[in-house]
Amino acid sequence: MLANAREALETTIALEKESMALYARLAKLFAAEPKLQDFWFGMARDEARHVGALDLVWTVLDLEDKLDAPGPISLEDSAIVKLRELLARFHREARPGLRIERALEMALEVEETELEDLVADLLKAVQAPDEYERCLRLLVHDLGELGYMIEHNCQDSSLLARCDALCDRHAEALRHFTVRQAS
Ligand SMILES: [Fe+2]
Ligand SMILES: [Fe+2]
Repeated sequence: MLANAREALETTIALEKESMALYARLAKLFAAEPKLQDFWFGMARDEARHVGALDLVWTVLDLEDKLDAPGPISLEDSAIVKLRELLARFHREARPGLRIERALEMALEVEETELEDLVADLLKAVQAPDEYERCLRLLVHDLGELGYMIEHNCQDSSLLARCDALCDRHAEALRHFTVRQAS
């Protein structure tokens, strides 16, 4: 288990950077098709923003001497290991000749992991409501784009349904949050 805020942030930031690097790599692989390149680059940029939000949290907790306080979130070591392995496997798979259908499936698989929930939970736990809301908005936006790309590049309705379900789940969390903030 992650013992404290420092470990939780370090681990999550490292994993987010890995997903950013994966999307940046895909942007390069599909550079011949501007629409696809833009899409992948947008995904990479939003991961960079998640990293930025977590860096900010780090800085604030550090100023308050709270980095070594007991963990704000909990995540099993096994889940972290699984995430690392998944990202490493996809990095190896992201080579010239990779088909767009497979690349989109990989992206969905990354987004379906606990990683973004981890980011959101961290932002919530350290009471960064604005960052939390922005993070969820980025997620919903990205998943909308991913769904559009799946719809137009893959003949796979189950993949699209998975993406829609994930998008709906985050949209619902966002809606609950904004309703609660307003009341
Ligand atoms: Fe992220
Ligand atoms: Fe993501």
